[in-house]
Amino acid sequence: MSFGLSRGKTLDTTGFGLDQSDLPPFENGRVDPRDFFDHPEYRLEIEIGSGKGTFLVKQAPLHIDVNYLGIEKTAEFYRYAADRMRRRSLDNVRILRADANEFIQFWCADTVAAVVHLYFSDPWPKKRHHKRRVIHDRSLQEFHRILVPAGEIRLVTDHSELWAWYEDHADRNAHLFERRNFDRPESADEGEIVGTNFERKYRREGRPFYAMTLVKLRDAGPEAL
Ligand SMILES: C[S@@+](CC[C@H](N)C(=O)[O-])C[C@H]1O[C@@H](n2cnc3c(N)ncnc32)[C@H](O)[C@@H]1O
Repeated sequence: MSFGLSRGKTLDTTGFGLDQSDLPPFENGRVDPRDFFDHPEYRLEIEIGSGKGTFLVKQAPLHIDVNYLGIEKTAEFYRYAADRMRRRSLDNVRILRADANEFIQFWCADTVAAVVHLYFSDPWPKKRHHKRRVIHDRSLQEFHRILVPAGEIRLVTDHSELWAWYEDHADRNAHLFERRNFDRPESADEGEIVGTNFERKYRREGRPFYAMTLVKLRDAGPEAL
């Protein structure tokens, strides 16, 4: 499927884009995504489903001592976002083309990320497609594993049924995460929750928004899972 994002321009991902197919076979052991950056010692935040990369373009320049990894599974959005980061020389951003749940489950090392951002994730409304949603009990266990102590998952959606799904998952995983209010990032403009492309589109349509933060409670032993 083509979204026509490049408008005839060549999109250049050099230095800013990585592809799942370039990762070592996962049988070789886990990968530390902090090593994708010039300063691996900086705090890492991951955005799942970064789309055109608008959140990263606005947030990353405000925190040049934080590394931001956008994970985007659609090749055209990945290329568009990585090219956008390159043109703006956002050296603290990398875009990985991958299914985020696969990357996190099979490749990502433990205790590496301070935040997982998930904004306007695809709701997959049909029951038979629910398995494609990003949030599941299994993925929450994996996010718990890759988060640092007191690390956070930040969730925003416009979709009431996906929101109910998030609430059920938060309740069921209350032994892993404490639910808190969502604090808007500094990069959000007046009246915005985050300021992503989909938020702007849905705001024009007058849709309601729902948001929560889940804070990692502790390192879970097998008995907690
Ligand atoms: C509805 S769009 C929202 C994009 C952006 N967050 C925004 O708010 O403008 C959802 C994006 O998540 C991506 N996506 C969905 N599931 C994903 C997954 N498992 N891993 C990586 N990207 C995913 C889709 O390709 C799409 O670009």
